[in-house]
Amino acid sequence: MTQEEVFKNLTAHCKEYGFVFQSSEIYDGLSAVYDYGQNGVELKNNIKRYWWEAMTRLHENIVGIDSAIFMHPRIWEASGHVAAFNDPLIDNRDSKKRYRADVLIEEYLAKLEDKIKKEVEKGRKKFGDSFDEAQFLATNPNVLRTQAKWDEVHNRMVKALNDNDLNEMRQIIIDSDIVCPISGTKNWTEVRKFNLMFSTQLGNISGEDGTIYLRPETAQGIFVNYLNVQKTGRMKIPFGIAQIGKAFRNEIVARQFIFRMREFEQMEMQFFIQPGTELDWFAKWKETRLKWHKAMGLGDEKYRFHDHDKLAHYANAATDIEFEFPFGFKELEGIHSRTDFDLGNHQKYSGRKIQYFDPERNENYTPYVIETSIGLDRCFLAVLSSSYHEEKLENGEERVVLSIPAALAPVKAAILPLVKKDGLPEKAREIMDILKFDFNCQYDEKDSIGKRYRRQDAIGTPFCITIDHDTLNDNCVTIRERDSMKQDRIAIDRLHEILQSQTSMTSLLVKN
Ligand code: GAP
Repeated sequence: MTQEEVFKNLTAHCKEYGFVFQSSEIYDGLSAVYDYGQNGVELKNNIKRYWWEAMTRLHENIVGIDSAIFMHPRIWEASGHVAAFNDPLIDNRDSKKRYRADVLIEEYLAKLEDKIKKEVEKGRKKFGDSFDEAQFLATNPNVLRTQAKWDEVHNRMVKALNDNDLNEMRQIIIDSDIVCPISGTKNWTEVRKFNLMFSTQLGNISGEDGTIYLRPETAQGIFVNYLNVQKTGRMKIPFGIAQIGKAFRNEIVARQFIFRMREFEQMEMQFFIQPGTELDWFAKWKETRLKWHKAMGLGDEKYRFHDHDKLAHYANAATDIEFEFPFGFKELEGIHSRTDFDLGNHQKYSGRKIQYFDPERNENYTPYVIETSIGLDRCFLAVLSSSYHEEKLENGEERVVLSIPAALAPVKAAILPLVKKDGLPEKAREIMDILKFDFNCQYDEKDSIGKRYRRQDAIGTPFCITIDHDTLNDNCVTIRERDSMKQDRIAIDRLHEILQSQTSMTSLLVKN
């Protein structure tokens, strides 16, 4: 099965099992907006908790806040979003489809990379054990031609993005013979700038036109509260402020399910530091954040760093942590060295002094900032896409299993009386009553035990606990582990301890 087909099946699975629904579905849906269902919200909340606790509990110098979505409109002028939060947009006149010009070029570059990979595979097959990849890459004429093309297009794109040269962006598309994936033609419009912020009207800001924005990032809510938190929390630099919340962007191209949405959630942390120490802290936070990701156990090889070619208007160093989604390596988290751009501008635009008195250096300064910013929905997709498996079992049956890290799984244990009579449901309810205060458990007595196992596998429940007739005499149950499907007979007294050790958030946090 191709990765594309797996992704299609995963999307359908998300709907069928209550993880993600299209927003406003009964009205034919709203493009690039999604709702989380009964299992999705549990998984999402667990990811949030993992991030929040790793940030705030494991770092004594990081505290959290929850700022409002609506903010004073001047904030978005100070942050540079009104002037510079734009994407280059291009339309194909034949298909009437709209694209991001930079994404069209990046996709073209990815095709060239694939071409090189295919040449390497051909060479490997041809030369067998004597194949020297480095030498092949340095000498094969086809590879050299494709690499030269890649370098040329890549360099032109980086320059055009940095210069904000929209005509050159279009020219690269034309020169590279990039066609519209729908119409197959090169009938492109000019490239135009498109601001991604949603605006709305606030009732009565007297004397102003009342336009306010839905925040496109949560970070600004942190910057404008820097003084409040520093003073009331008596925080000393270096320290951080963390926040989880909704952000809104009017994305031109919203594709790939919940990867790019118009309403999404971010988990952001701004770390305030002494100017001049930013590159050390940048390296430290890169390492800390990668460790957080890898602790989930989705596969170390699925992560890589991608340093930015074009720096955002506020950054002096930036990298993405990319994850290998079914549609390739894509950005999951951004780590940015934001200098004093934001605090400095808020000082200028608000007229308020936003500085830190450093007792060790006996001086005032505007702190520099390292930001870590991860999309919660993308993290959700990373967990689900790497956990989704279609398996053929030894007995010929098939199952779909979500091998979600146990600490993040929506339901930790299913409580299953073997039959609906003979006192087994009552005994099962007793067990449910012991466990439900600490673990999200699901009681299920309908259908055969095999069908019930399949239902729990499909939502990623790590443990199924079956109560049978022997349980009434020996106070033991059968516990079945999701991934191995191994079954053990254990005393009811041990259930709490087993679930605690296997499914608690601590099991992830200790690996950070
Ligand atoms: N405050 C910095 C900032 O917002 P960003 O790279 O634009 O930086 C941070 O966004 C993260 O937010 C991204 O790495 C991504 O995971 C997530 N994100 C951005 N746009 C998104 C969208 N339209 N849908 C879902 N997640 C998105």
